[in-house]
Amino acid sequence: MKNIEDQENLAGKIALLRLDLNVPLKNKDILDETRIDKIIPVINFLLNRKTKILVISHVGRPNGKKNNDLSLKPICLNIEKKIKKKIKLITSNLYEITKDKLFTQEEEVIFLENIRFYREEEINDSKFAKQIASLGDFYVNDAFSCSHRDHASVSKITKFLPSFAGLQMQSEINALKKITSDIESPITCIIGGSKISTKIGLIKNLTNKLDNLVFVGGMANNILNFKGFKIGKSIKEDHCNNIIDDIFMNAEKNRCKIYYPEDVRVGKNFDSHSEIKSLKDISKEDIILDIGPKTVEKIKKIIENSRTVFWNGPAGYFENENFENGSLQICKIIENNTKNNSLYSVVGGGDTIAVINKTGSLNNFNFVSTAGGAFLEYLEGKELPGIKALN
Ligand code: 3PG
Repeated sequence: MKNIEDQENLAGKIALLRLDLNVPLKNKDILDETRIDKIIPVINFLLNRKTKILVISHVGRPNGKKNNDLSLKPICLNIEKKIKKKIKLITSNLYEITKDKLFTQEEEVIFLENIRFYREEEINDSKFAKQIASLGDFYVNDAFSCSHRDHASVSKITKFLPSFAGLQMQSEINALKKITSDIESPITCIIGGSKISTKIGLIKNLTNKLDNLVFVGGMANNILNFKGFKIGKSIKEDHCNNIIDDIFMNAEKNRCKIYYPEDVRVGKNFDSHSEIKSLKDISKEDIILDIGPKTVEKIKKIIENSRTVFWNGPAGYFENENFENGSLQICKIIENNTKNNSLYSVVGGGDTIAVINKTGSLNNFNFVSTAGGAFLEYLEGKELPGIKALN
């Protein structure tokens, strides 16, 4: 893999820079800026090399359709302040743009609007990738956290341009390589969050690497449902009982213990108050939005008996403070055990980072990855399509 840092003669060229600016947004406000802060160095690096930069990114899952709520506009405004330069956001049809008319003499940074407004992105369409590639002279992937996606601006585009890894990409890969080679047992992985479809399929292959697998958050709902508990109106993924069956079978074969909530906090909607319930008391109207206190205690013991802990995905709907307790407690327990050196901690994913920023503890873990799904796939030992393409 060639790194952008080692390249000479970049001056006067146009860099196509793939970033992952998929930050949590609420009414166009950015709730957590960590992913943005991590890519400022690559923008400054390219600007110092006198390169013009065309940024490509997605935010959210617009499913191939324009969606004003998922515009990159607020993110551009945020980055403008951080780099102290004007940024132009191109909202016109990508197929009508040409390289020669892209930048004026003064313009240095341009953003393409959310690349997932085009359905061609997610189906890894060749023509689409070629069209984007025609707008630049070389390509830089500094989006480790979406390199598990075989998408046009992540993998296919590398067929058409000299392609390099960015600064953040290098540091994530170096850190994860080191972690996975020097790992100490017992190893615990806590998996939560709401992106069930992204994660559930790859968990089976993690069981041979772990001693404990702890399900919390939206992920746990599917396990509870599989075990025959009522989960009311809670989010869950359909048709995954076979996958869960496989997870339990593989876990047993590999002596990996699986844990899921013993009690929960429920609400009637996402804005409501919370009520602690045991699993047998969950009603048809309830939405599970956090783990309960007994479950927190159980997880505490598991963490205290671990030498390595990976945490990916919040334990509940932490955006409402009535349901943040589980996530904040997990954060605190991992943090305390990292401080007293009883374990090595790796925390990953956009929402998980948002949780730890709520407590101001970003620097209290051994490694914080911006990646969620990509982090788990890397851990599984998979070659990520975005990295394979650079190789
Ligand atoms: C992430 O947040 O993990 C990446 O941006 C990928 O997002 P996705 O799961 O919607 O592909």
